[in-house]
Amino acid sequence: MATLHVACWREAYTVLVPDDLAKRFEVAAMILRWQEHLSKPERFIEAAYDGSQPVAFVNSGRPVEQLFDGMDGHIAALYVAKTHYRKGLGRMLMAHAAADWLAQGGHSISLGVLAENTQARSFYEAMGGRLVKTGFYEWHGHQLADAIYVFEDLARLAARNPV
Ligand SMILES: CC(C)(COP(=O)(O)OP(=O)(O)OC[C@H]1O[C@@H](n2cnc3c(N)ncnc32)[C@H](O)[C@@H]1OP(=O)(O)O)[C@@H](O)C(=O)NCCC(=O)NCCS
Repeated sequence: MATLHVACWREAYTVLVPDDLAKRFEVAAMILRWQEHLSKPERFIEAAYDGSQPVAFVNSGRPVEQLFDGMDGHIAALYVAKTHYRKGLGRMLMAHAAADWLAQGGHSISLGVLAENTQARSFYEAMGGRLVKTGFYEWHGHQLADAIYVFEDLARLAARNPV
């Protein structure tokens, strides 16, 4: 999972973030991060496989960061390998995250995305996301512009029919 995560970061972010940030995308550090994620039973983590290879995943649940006042559920990460873009995996994983949060009594789910990540923003907007805020967040000493989306109709998102 750590290898997939780093590969997805490289594919999506190398052109969007400063070089010295991109150089920090390393599997060894990511393994530690995944060990932490997987040690928390309250996280909803689901992966899609092509044969025995994981090619996409979502990590959602309670907020691991407060994106705006009144935030409810959170998608902390959603990544699809470039080889598998546009095959419906993102939609499927969003639907499963929404269904899980609904089952836990949640009402909405939110996430932050790099403001310049137009591909992901188009996807989130196609999934029914509403832009609630733009701002900046810090990543290893760099201020990066971001956009926060909220998904308020979880039943519809869970039904994979958001718009
Ligand atoms: C953004 C991402 C998760 C989308 O996942 P995906 O599996 O490729 O998307 P889907 O096939 O489920 O797309 C569902 C719909 O979203 C929209 N969409 C998806 N990618 C799009 C793009 N590049 N441009 C415009 N619309 C897009 C379309 O409406 C699409 O439906 P269609 O294919 O029937 O037209 C995936 O591209 C990805 O992992 N990107 C790199 C990592 C990243 O940026 N993650 C988000 C971090 S916040």
